[in-house]
Amino acid sequence: MGKGVGFGKVILFNEHFVVYGVPAIVSAIGAKTTALVERRAGSGVEVEDDRPETKGYKVEKLGQQKESLDRMLKFMNIDTKHNAFKITLGGELLAASGVGASAASCAAIARAFSDELNLEYSDEKVNEVAYEGEKGYHGTPSGIDNTAATFGGLIWYRKEGSSQLMDRMRLRSPVEIVMGNTGIVSDTSVVVGGVRERRGKEPEKYDQIFKNAEQLVYDARKQLEAFNLDSVGAHMNEDHALLQQIGVSCGELDSLVSLARDNGAMGAKMTGTGKGGYMVALTPGGETQERVARAFEAKGFQALRTTIGA
Ligand code: MEV
Repeated sequence: MGKGVGFGKVILFNEHFVVYGVPAIVSAIGAKTTALVERRAGSGVEVEDDRPETKGYKVEKLGQQKESLDRMLKFMNIDTKHNAFKITLGGELLAASGVGASAASCAAIARAFSDELNLEYSDEKVNEVAYEGEKGYHGTPSGIDNTAATFGGLIWYRKEGSSQLMDRMRLRSPVEIVMGNTGIVSDTSVVVGGVRERRGKEPEKYDQIFKNAEQLVYDARKQLEAFNLDSVGAHMNEDHALLQQIGVSCGELDSLVSLARDNGAMGAKMTGTGKGGYMVALTPGGETQERVARAFEAKGFQALRTTIGA
């Protein structure tokens, strides 16, 4: 039996802008997806998806999951006409929008096949396979999610043409965050497509917002590396405002962001695709983390208590 894992992620700065070559910052989170690959008699691939989920996520993503898997099997040159496999997905990462669930499953599957078939994939190769798999979910992924899912840690990420550039960042010590789940499943290719359409209609307005996002992330990096968490939080708030301006937030995300700030978070923003999914609050220290998480739970939202920079 082959085994593999992929990390869940939180984008701290510049989701969406990253699709157009603007740098972004992403961190792996503690929660992971696992994959097991077993050989079976016959032909074809069966998937048993045992991941915990936001209600409706797995059914909604079934078609994309199949396309993603077909792409990865082809890319890995795995013959499923004369061989049969069963893939079992598990782990504690919720199958939900905004936490890198699809990328984590792709990296886990690539690693599990490598393990089962003795392919000896390097992390770089796993990342390439996972990127191919992400195309089944996103259409035109920037590559940030599969990079975080494969390598883990805290990453400065930039796409330059077809190259994906990553730079590892270090934090003085891990910092507590809370991720609030709206419970809404969103479709990345639709939300990314919406940005493309609006950008095409209002190029000047969008150029300015993209410039602001680029400036913001360079400064945010400095503040993170200097461990000026107050300032990092303020930059997260600004990034949320830019994401609102390009139309990818929603009422539920905005109210979780406000709730987090009202309960002592240093900053808060939506994270990932938006239009549902998750937001992230910077809550250094167990006490603030707990206060914010409880405020979410008191309103009926799920809260994920985790850290960045571990
Ligand atoms: C989704 O987690 C992040 C997006 O920026 C899409 C991408 O980078 O491919 C919205």
